[in-house]
Amino acid sequence: MMAPYEREGLAIEPLHDALGARVRGLDLAQALTPAVFNAVHQAWMDHLVLVFPEQRVSDAQHIAFARMFGDLERHHQDIIKSSREPEIFRVSNVDDDGKLMAPDHPTVSQVRLAQRWHTDSSYRTVPSMGSILHGLEITEEGGETCFTNMYAVYDALPDRLRDKVGDRKLRHDFEYLTTLAPIKPLTDEERAAMPPVWQPMRRRHPVTGRASLYISPIYNDAIEGLEDDEAVAFVGELTEFAARPEFVYRHRWEADDIVMWDNRCTMHRVTPYDLDKRRVMHRTTIVGDGPVIAA
Ligand code: OGA
Ligand code: MN
Repeated sequence: MMAPYEREGLAIEPLHDALGARVRGLDLAQALTPAVFNAVHQAWMDHLVLVFPEQRVSDAQHIAFARMFGDLERHHQDIIKSSREPEIFRVSNVDDDGKLMAPDHPTVSQVRLAQRWHTDSSYRTVPSMGSILHGLEITEEGGETCFTNMYAVYDALPDRLRDKVGDRKLRHDFEYLTTLAPIKPLTDEERAAMPPVWQPMRRRHPVTGRASLYISPIYNDAIEGLEDDEAVAFVGELTEFAARPEFVYRHRWEADDIVMWDNRCTMHRVTPYDLDKRRVMHRTTIVGDGPVIAA
């Protein structure tokens, strides 16, 4: 693994050969100087996932940090959005009033779908650039977040899979979630807000120029030129390959960790945890810089 190094007073410690670095020497409650912001951005492009320990920030401070990277998404469903801060996406089994929800509550079922590999908001015409997740109440056991490097996955694909990916497009449909778990049905407005989109399976990163495999299995129900059941099976096969340990960093949370990831070149999932225990994470989601570019 790459040795720890310093940039602009930040101590950057790689966490896995494939991706992930811990960054110390930063207080995200304060505005970053342009030089420090550039160092953080460079580290993000180099490591894909950054972990900032011990960040006791308010939602407003979290939002201010996230806004340095771009505009923030507002989720199209009210059940997930904070009533106080519409740019906060509540990744939680605790409701907006702080009450633990029953394990079979539709919102909990939806949040549980994050236990499957995905990348955030791939179902938007302009999918998210990256997400920033603040661990407020973490679980002692389970609830670890795994990240996989989709540049490395694309580079390592066996010829048979790479040829089949080719320059095909894959469909991403938010509503596909309703076929996977007993979640709240979409309202007509929610459905109209997020019609299915077709995205290239091999995408080029707008900053690094690198090619990666772009799939998000919880939303993918069709591939150009394949029957739907073959498409879903193929996405499953690609996902299994992407989940190989050599590509994956698994993050064990400490309270007040802030973790940010690049949705353009990674996938993530959370490991199962006891739903009778509170888990409260607040996420901001940075709007993408433009439509997905095919590689
Ligand atoms: C997310 C997500 C995983 C987790 O915030 O986008 O998928 O660990 N969360 O809660
Ligand atoms: Mn997610």
